[in-house]
Amino acid sequence: MTNQAPRPRRSVLYMPGSKARALEKARGLPADALILDLEDAVAPAEKLAARQMVAGAVRAGGFGPREVLIRINGLDTEWGADDLAAAVAAGPDAVLVPKVESARMVRDVALGFERLGAQPHTRIWAMMETPLGMLNAPEIAGAHPLLACLVMGTNDLVKDLRAQHTEMRLPVITGLGLCLLAARAHGLAIVDGVYNAFRDAEGLRRACLQGREMGMDGKTLIHPDQLAIANEVFAPSDAEIAQARTYVEAFAAAEARGEGVAVVDGRIVENLHVESARRLLAEAEAIARLAAAAD
Ligand code: COA
Ligand code: MG
Repeated sequence: MTNQAPRPRRSVLYMPGSKARALEKARGLPADALILDLEDAVAPAEKLAARQMVAGAVRAGGFGPREVLIRINGLDTEWGADDLAAAVAAGPDAVLVPKVESARMVRDVALGFERLGAQPHTRIWAMMETPLGMLNAPEIAGAHPLLACLVMGTNDLVKDLRAQHTEMRLPVITGLGLCLLAARAHGLAIVDGVYNAFRDAEGLRRACLQGREMGMDGKTLIHPDQLAIANEVFAPSDAEIAQARTYVEAFAAAEARGEGVAVVDGRIVENLHVESARRLLAEAEAIARLAAAAD
């Protein structure tokens, strides 16, 4: 049955790899995943110290059920190769590669994994944040079996498009759509870009809702205050869970009568709706398991 939900990725929190306080605090935060950043959140003068600190933090562990990622600098920068080596040796859940624009860039990282003897659990995640990345999303998403998730980098995308940040994000909607199509076509997870105004809770809620309606698994975040809203919006609500159970039961009853469709509250319920309902119930269970493991 298709009721196996992937691990929850409702809330994916960035933190500068140069900030010891943030790395320490992260072990107790209710984030589904953590991105320990070596790239844009770290100034050039701090790159080497951050690399050491992040690798040390990942080795030390203590993150519980949270997925732990290291975002490296691009392999075309002076730090990229050493970042990759340090990240792979530390053994995070994934290495996040910035500004991915081609299948080749994913395969180069995969070759690095092989050469460096990466641990079998470590995956590749790709930042999708440039015009070329959007246009090549299908080949990127299908580039390598180690690739597990696409991460939208909407700030970089807005910059490169010479677009503007707007409430409904129409300037980036084509890019978000292309990456969603590519991710789902290749069975990958995908998380939405950040919401910059980190003190604006209602604005964040609207942005999360929009992402969830589009099909995003969750949202990347920049501040711990954003965690609760993303966790709430990207989780199935009680009403959705109740409705999913009703669909499953009504369809089973219809099948028992030898019928292929059911009707619930004036709506048709077919097998495909039941598949979505089962998926939603599995997501809710996965979230409950994660919460239990974090206690
Ligand atoms: N991860 C973990 N902890 C964080 C955090 C993060 N992203 N952002 C803030 N915190 C911690 C702070 O260390 C502070 O802890 P303390 O009070 O227990 O010492 C607490 O949360 C409150 O922080 P606050 O004072 O409200 O924020 P700030 O003004 O210090 O920092 C930002 C604001 C935006 C600079 C900071 O949140 C940040 O650096 N975010 C990540 C940016 C990033 O990684 N960008 C790259 C990808 S877009
Ligand atoms: Mg970026």
